[in-house]
Amino acid sequence: MPLRAADVVGTLGTDADPPLTGEWSEARILRWLREEDEPRLATLWQAADTVRRRAVGDAVHLRGLIEVSNHCARTCAYCGINVRNTALRRYRMNHAEIMASARAAVDLGCGTVVMQAGEDDGIRADWLADVIRAIKAEYGLAVTLSLGERLADELAGWREAGADRYLLRFETSDAALYARIHPPRAGRTCDRFAILGTLRALGYEVGSGVMVGIPGQRYESLARDIRLFAELDLDMIGVGPFVPHPATPLGQVTEGATDQVPNTAVMACKVVALARLVRPDANIPSTTALATIDRVGGYAAGLRCGANVVMPNVTPAEYRRCYEIYPAKVCLHDEFTATRAALEERLGRLGRHIATGPGDCVRGC
Ligand code: 5AD
Repeated sequence: MPLRAADVVGTLGTDADPPLTGEWSEARILRWLREEDEPRLATLWQAADTVRRRAVGDAVHLRGLIEVSNHCARTCAYCGINVRNTALRRYRMNHAEIMASARAAVDLGCGTVVMQAGEDDGIRADWLADVIRAIKAEYGLAVTLSLGERLADELAGWREAGADRYLLRFETSDAALYARIHPPRAGRTCDRFAILGTLRALGYEVGSGVMVGIPGQRYESLARDIRLFAELDLDMIGVGPFVPHPATPLGQVTEGATDQVPNTAVMACKVVALARLVRPDANIPSTTALATIDRVGGYAAGLRCGANVVMPNVTPAEYRRCYEIYPAKVCLHDEFTATRAALEERLGRLGRHIATGPGDCVRGC
């Protein structure tokens, strides 16, 4: 029986407050997204933190992020590595470089590596399958992939090679907004929900999520996004604020829609907290985007309002600089300094510790 928020937060909230127990309808989620009263928001952070502790504990899983390639065939209006950004130096890591980064992840105490890239046709399915097998054989790490919309055959081959998890954010459930910011590739359809279903059928742990504060994103659609986290029964949920990139069409937008969701740290934290309340045992990172817009307290804020994962960046510095999906990207690895001891110390101050093991999604714990 999965743990529900209602089982652990008891009577939090009064009749005057938006309730924190019971079923999470879109209407209730919406009320919390619109909430601006600080004492009431404090009850939201508290409830999410309590649910996080009871469902997944105080251990924080480290996922070593390897940004294996910044080539991308797509023209997404929000993302700095889209194919139209000709100012960007492009790179693709080779097998040996990826293995060296995986080693760095092991040294830091990560139980998982996340291989992320743009939609790079130069990443051949067989080549990556070999890399996955080598990482599993050499280091025994869990392997997460985040490579965009790839063909079902490719996803199947990588799963067979030993990949454990796949991340593919649906970005927004507002179909018209999605179509505007994420044009399909010529001759292909683009249905991320269908791909999430394929990933599930292949036996991957499935992760998805959204950006918060995309120009044109309204509160109603964000409430539906959060409801979908539960309906999709996600194992992992990644959410971060939209960060404008000046070399992209959405980097130039100055006005939002009526009822525009702001791309603030507080709004991103509300989404993290509600994600935890609707999916108590999911793995939820405190994201780099949140730390980028709140350099002082971003990581800690995410960890205090429901997150239980951080993703130290173990990409070589020369490449990391070029993986500019948004500007001035902060790297946990730099932030918390480069050693496991320093990371442990920073987490310790939050009453948390580094997890051991691969950090699979453990259901109904
Ligand atoms: N701001 C914030 N997040 C972004 N992403 C891409 N571009 C931006 C941006 N400008 C996020 C998307 C994508 C993930 C890898 O990075 O949600 O799924």
